[in-house]
Amino acid sequence: MLIELTEEQRMLKDTARDFADNELAPIAAKLDREKSIPRELLKKMADIGLLSIIIPEKYGGVGLGNFELVLALEEINRVCASTGVTVSVHASLCTSPILRFGNDEQKQRYLPRLATGEILGAYALTEANAGSDAASLETTARKDGNDYVLNGSKMFITNGGIAELIIVFARTNPDKSLRAKGITAFFVEAGYKGFKVGKKEEKLGISASNTVELVFEDCRVPKENILFEENKGFTVAMDTLDGGRIGIATQALGIAQASLDASVKYANQRKQFGKLISEFQAIQWKLADMATDIDAARMLVYRAAMMRDKKVPHTREAAMAKLFASTMANKAAKEAVQIHGGVGYTKEFPVERFFRDAKITEIYEGTSEVQKIVISRAVLGRK
Ligand code: CAA
Repeated sequence: MLIELTEEQRMLKDTARDFADNELAPIAAKLDREKSIPRELLKKMADIGLLSIIIPEKYGGVGLGNFELVLALEEINRVCASTGVTVSVHASLCTSPILRFGNDEQKQRYLPRLATGEILGAYALTEANAGSDAASLETTARKDGNDYVLNGSKMFITNGGIAELIIVFARTNPDKSLRAKGITAFFVEAGYKGFKVGKKEEKLGISASNTVELVFEDCRVPKENILFEENKGFTVAMDTLDGGRIGIATQALGIAQASLDASVKYANQRKQFGKLISEFQAIQWKLADMATDIDAARMLVYRAAMMRDKKVPHTREAAMAKLFASTMANKAAKEAVQIHGGVGYTKEFPVERFFRDAKITEIYEGTSEVQKIVISRAVLGRK
């Protein structure tokens, strides 16, 4: 399959690449050490359109689609996976469901501000007792007049402590046996009374991204803040994750490409036994496997993104892209450390960060095991 980018797509990819190489690369290790991303950095990205790729021009965005989003996200993740996931969540998990399920008033209310970076987006589904089994979530939303009153807590919420807008999934029907059928999606703004940011997680990788607990204590949310329909929130959650999984697959792709690039560079500099290590077949075969896996993953990612843009079912394709890309990224990052030998295990070289960052791609937005559930259901023709 030959993919020829249009002039506009090429320009967007170049913009993301230049930003990643010139602005992110010099500070990526520092962000990882200091465990946060300055808001000014995200604002700079917004100013050049990187936070609004999928937002239509009439709302102040770039007006492109998911395919273009992955072109840009690969470049960002190639340099800094923490920044990559921050942008991915903003775009795929917060902006995308507004575009696909929001009404005109909600689009008008939020999209222009998401485009400029004035507000950052997050998505809150996971709870302590509802990880892979998302439909068993326990946060409640009780109707009270024209409001809903939210109680409960969410965990592992990417961007949760820095976002101004969070899409929160809560149980509007207290009967837990209804599972997915009793869940509603709400817009919660960070300033709402009863909304609190809880514990911040210390993580193995993607250390600069913000991962927190969110707590809702009688948090009052107006009924206009329901995204889509009451009790139809699980559909919003799952459709959104179809897009989010493409974003995480792209993150894996970026990390793997970075691992390969660093390995090629090192193998062409490092001499042992009187010659460059790139002249040893042991190293050449590792590089060949990495390059082949990366190309295969990129095709799966592109296919899933194009299908999402065409609005055809792509649940299986998104799951396949994430499963394959995250598996191969972990392999590539591990090989990159191996090719670097001792120095690869130190912070002198970025491959130890790639190795740590890669792991999460097999876990969040559905573990590899969840992706296999999704894919096997499609293969078997079961829902
Ligand atoms: N699109 C639209 N609707 C969908 C859908 C999709 N892709 N998948 C399922 N649904 C609908 C179903 O049609 C069904 O609706 P009806 O009852 O009306 O028929 C409903 O949702 C329930 O579906 P299932 O019966 O398939 O639900 P399940 O309980 O068997 O769960 C699951 C399936 C795939 C395991 C799901 O729970 C899942 O994906 N779990 C993983 C959760 C996850 O990925 N969490 C990530 C958190 S976010 C995150 O990680 C962000 C971050 O930090 C970066």
